[in-house]
Amino acid sequence: MKAFTIWFTGLSGSGKTTLSRRVYLEIRRRGLKAELLDGDIIRTNFSQELGFTKRERDINVRRIGFLSWLLNKHGIISVVAAIAPYEDTRQQNRLLIPNYIEVFCSCPLEVVEARDVKGLYARARAGEIPHFTGISDPYEPPRTPEVVVHTDQESVEESLSKILSYLEKRDLIP
Ligand code: PPS
Ligand code: MG
Repeated sequence: MKAFTIWFTGLSGSGKTTLSRRVYLEIRRRGLKAELLDGDIIRTNFSQELGFTKRERDINVRRIGFLSWLLNKHGIISVVAAIAPYEDTRQQNRLLIPNYIEVFCSCPLEVVEARDVKGLYARARAGEIPHFTGISDPYEPPRTPEVVVHTDQESVEESLSKILSYLEKRDLIP
C-alpha cells in the first residue's frame, strides 16, 4: 500500500478533529502506520509562534504539508485536521504530496456558530478574537475535494464510512 495524506479542511467546529481521529484509529486498526496532525496540537507544539494572519496560516499549513510529505516518504500515513482556509495554499500541498486526499467538512456557519463547542464564535462576535475564520477572516471552500462530508446532515458514522469507502476504492487502505 502506498502512503498518503488525508487532509480534513473546514470551519472551526465543522467536525475535523472528530472525523480525523476516527479515521486515524481505523487506519491503525487495519494494521497501517499513521500519524495524526491536528492544527490545535501542532500550534501548541510546533507552530507556537504563529498567529492567524494569512501569512501565518500559510506558514502553518505549508509546515504541516511538509511534515506530511516527510512522513509519507517513510511510508507513514498522515491524517491532518487543520482549517487551511486558502485554496492556493491547499493546492500547493496537493502539488507537493504525491497522494493527497482532501476531505471537506462542509457545515454552514450558522450551524457551527450555534454549536459553538469551544465558545470561540461568541468571543469572535464580541470582537475578542481577531481574524476568526468565518467571522472576520475568510474560508475558501475547496474547489477539488476528493470527499465532501456534510456534518450538519450526516452522522459521524455516515461520514466515516463515506471516507473509508473512498480510501478502499482507491486501494489506499485494505
Ligand atoms: S489554520 O488556518 O489551518 O492555520 O488553523 P489551524 O492550525 O487548524 O488552527 C485552528 C484552531 O485554532 C483555534 N483558533 C482559531 N481558529 C480560527 N481562527 C482563529 N482566529 C482562531 N484562533 C484560535 C481553534 O481552536 C481552531 O481549532 P478547530 O479544531 O478548527 O476548532
Ligand atoms: Mg479541531
